[in-house]
Amino acid sequence: MLTQDELKQNVAREAVQYILPLLDNTAVVGVGTGSTVDFFIDELAKHKTRFRAAVSSSNRSTERLQRHGIDVIDLNEVTELVAYVDGADEINHDLAMTKGGGGALTREKIVAALARQFVCIVDESKVVQTLGRFPLPVEVLPMARAMVARRLASEGTPVWRDGFVTDNGGHILDIQGLQVDTEGARRLESRINDIPGVVCCGFFALAPAHVALVATQDGVKTLQRPA
Ligand code: A5P
Repeated sequence: MLTQDELKQNVAREAVQYILPLLDNTAVVGVGTGSTVDFFIDELAKHKTRFRAAVSSSNRSTERLQRHGIDVIDLNEVTELVAYVDGADEINHDLAMTKGGGGALTREKIVAALARQFVCIVDESKVVQTLGRFPLPVEVLPMARAMVARRLASEGTPVWRDGFVTDNGGHILDIQGLQVDTEGARRLESRINDIPGVVCCGFFALAPAHVALVATQDGVKTLQRPA
């Protein structure tokens, strides 16, 4: 029986194999955030001469990349990333995701938007039929927190992640009690995006992953986005 860390290591290794053919000395790789991505960064470092640089989605990942001697450049210096590799808190079979358990959702969504493909790396515990068991993180400007929470109360139960401040100086509301399919997640993502004071919604359903590498006890499986 593989441990969860061994599953994360396996999928991290597979993600590096997946992106290696895309790398050359001009390639910039987008790097997400989280414990699975930490393993990915450690694997990627073994090939650090094969690509130009990385763009990072958090201070945590930046520090780890730099410790490995990988050049981390500003997103504004880049017009395209060969791939963006990141974990998720939940992913469904349409490859729509809930993200932001670590609070990095805004930068993750921005960096992902510049990538030719989003490669999601998860262990099988993250694959769900409907999204919502994991509370949906929403980053808000601090001054708007209470107002946004009142608006979100018609969707579920928003809970302030008290004491947590994002890399952008934002606050997080975690919405509990949701159960939505892909269409529902897309509609909710749009509605939440429209509330003044919202910086980012943790559903990645309007722009889902292109491919998911899923670590199981029987090896790493590949899920493609349905046509
Ligand atoms: C960070 O804010 C999140 O979006 C992460 O991608 C997500 O929480 C997955 O993290 P783990 O790999 O640690 O589960």
